[in-house]
Amino acid sequence: MGVRKRTQTDQTHMTERLSAHGLTLRFGRIRAVDDFSFSVKRGEILGIIGPNGAGKSTAFDLLSGSRKPDKGRVLFDGMDITHESPQRRCRLGIGRTHQVPRPFENMTVYENALVAAVNGGERSGRNARNDIHDLLDRFGLLSKKDVFARELSLVERKLLEIARCLATGPTLMLLDEPVAGVGGEDQDRIVRIVADVRDKGVTIVWIEHIITVMTEAVDRLLVMAQGRELIGGPPERVMNTREVLEAYLGPEGEQ
Ligand SMILES: Nc1ncnc2c1ncn2[C@@H]1O[C@H](COP(=O)(O)OP(=O)(O)O)[C@@H](O)[C@H]1O
Ligand SMILES: [Mg+2]
Repeated sequence: MGVRKRTQTDQTHMTERLSAHGLTLRFGRIRAVDDFSFSVKRGEILGIIGPNGAGKSTAFDLLSGSRKPDKGRVLFDGMDITHESPQRRCRLGIGRTHQVPRPFENMTVYENALVAAVNGGERSGRNARNDIHDLLDRFGLLSKKDVFARELSLVERKLLEIARCLATGPTLMLLDEPVAGVGGEDQDRIVRIVADVRDKGVTIVWIEHIITVMTEAVDRLLVMAQGRELIGGPPERVMNTREVLEAYLGPEGEQ
């Protein structure tokens, strides 16, 4: 009996953290996500840009499991998770942030992180309390640990959203506009945090509206329009594509 030879598919799945195949979701007559396929390799940062309504956040809903596709499949570490619940996906290692942060408003910062760690199950480690302390410290939220989430500023809410995601112990983070709505210095801070998370080995798919913030940090850029990929590749190439410059940055190249 010999060792089974690896097939091409096995090898692809070993390097791919996540892949989507022909994902489709309609809201009535709108095809929010339309035969959308992409993949992200382990350790990679993939940036997703595209106009409002392109289907970016809905695609994340399908990846994180909060919505089920009409058609298509999602593979995580080679496993078909299309029919798994959001809770199970979280336990498998998929963390997700929302465009508009969704903390438990009547819980403290610390309690929010603790609930996230519990949701992550064994992934988040046995020492959740120490880990959360360190995590909040890294995010500059330690002094706010006993403050109710409803009392936080927008930047603090954005930071808490990412911290909660990390507290689940993800191997893949789906970040939905983590920088949107925050000012320059805080943008830099959040970008540094994301880069640091990636340096620790976490794979990242990062949706952002402020494209310039992201282009330096991502390995690859995917432009989404009308529910599917319009163009993808190295950021500098994608950003210099005429369609992208004209249609998605405006005729003067503004954002
Ligand atoms: N819950 C919903 N019900 C109906 N239509 C929706 C819903 N969520 C999103 N849409 C529509 O789906 C499309 C994609 O939206 P969305 O995924 O939020 O885009 P993006 O994140 O790229 O701005 C848009 O046309 C939007 O109006
Ligand atoms: Mg969105």
